[in-house]
Amino acid sequence: MATPQPEIQFNGLKESVPGLPARYYFDPAHHALELKKIWQRHWVYVGRSNEMLAPRSFKSVAIGDQKILLVRDDSGTLRAFHNTCRHRGALLCTQESGTLRGGAITCPYHAWTYSLDGTLLRTTSKSVARGFDVSDYPLYPVNLKVWRGFIFACLAERPPEFTAGFDVPLSRLDSWPLEDLRIGHAFTTVMRCNWKIFWENYNECLHCPVVHPSLSQLVPIFGRALMEERDDPQWREHAADDDPKYRGGLRRGAGTWSSDGALVGKPFAGLSEADRLAAHVYVTGLPSMFIVCHPDYVRLVRLMPLGPESTEMRVEFLFSPETLADPGFDVSKVVDFSGAVMREDAEVCELNQAGLRAAPHESGVLMPEEYVVRQFHDWLRAEIGD
Ligand code: FES
Ligand SMILES: [Fe+2]
Repeated sequence: MATPQPEIQFNGLKESVPGLPARYYFDPAHHALELKKIWQRHWVYVGRSNEMLAPRSFKSVAIGDQKILLVRDDSGTLRAFHNTCRHRGALLCTQESGTLRGGAITCPYHAWTYSLDGTLLRTTSKSVARGFDVSDYPLYPVNLKVWRGFIFACLAERPPEFTAGFDVPLSRLDSWPLEDLRIGHAFTTVMRCNWKIFWENYNECLHCPVVHPSLSQLVPIFGRALMEERDDPQWREHAADDDPKYRGGLRRGAGTWSSDGALVGKPFAGLSEADRLAAHVYVTGLPSMFIVCHPDYVRLVRLMPLGPESTEMRVEFLFSPETLADPGFDVSKVVDFSGAVMREDAEVCELNQAGLRAAPHESGVLMPEEYVVRQFHDWLRAEIGD
């Protein structure tokens, strides 16, 4: 009779479990369900507050098939509305961003005019029909929340608690001066994959040695296909070893995520020694974004679903005003490095999507290292009531 093995405390999955049904990644009806149950229910990151500081500035964004207009009024209050006229439903604003002339929102179809708080000010009709009252037709409001310089919108009538979608307490980022940071560089790309494919890829490092050669050198534990120490069933054997390939963190001598590992700006003043050494602190806010706080800059990635097999990814690199003003500052060192990692991920995400329609492939299977993918699947199933 075999001797029972002592329970090994590690993070990995102990049971073999299937992934989500393959059709969840391409079926238009399932995608519509997710838009309704997930994307229209949660807080979604829509932009930085300091991108639209001027009175009367606006920005239009889309969350799935819902188009939203963000507007700042003359007193500085920011509001969000559906980008839809109450007359016959025309799109109010076709530009991505800008400043509203005349301090009002005028529909480009029959010129109904709204104030910046959404009140309908006037129609263009020559008479008023019985039973019509302008006060019955304000713009449809959308919930808005500004957290430390990040603007979030929620399409639900009764939004969930703001912090509910985050995987760690937001106080974890207290040492970073998030509200003061500016976008030093940003790029947007469209991936030919379902939005969940991206999150699955983001939630495991089994692919890291295969897909990310440079990142695997900078973060040696990633080169072992692990995200952290206890992802290794043998972790106890190396518990006393502070080599970053066991402990996590950057290779010795490196200070941040950049092409040569060197810092690109002064480390943020309030960071603890542990934060500086960790070199990356991740906070995930499902379904739309994750933030990675480095010692000298912050990277933000935002997803938007464009269709069942198409996802927009926007990456923003945030720096302190002092770093941006430094004549020696070279943004390309972080953009080239992180941009390459993001492109490597986007490429395998598209590869993953491309193979999913095989007739016999009802679902994949998760390996022990993919325990966070499993948590994501559990979250998704609960959200859609599966
Ligand atoms: S649809 Fe907007 S004024 Fe007619
Ligand atoms: Fe990756």
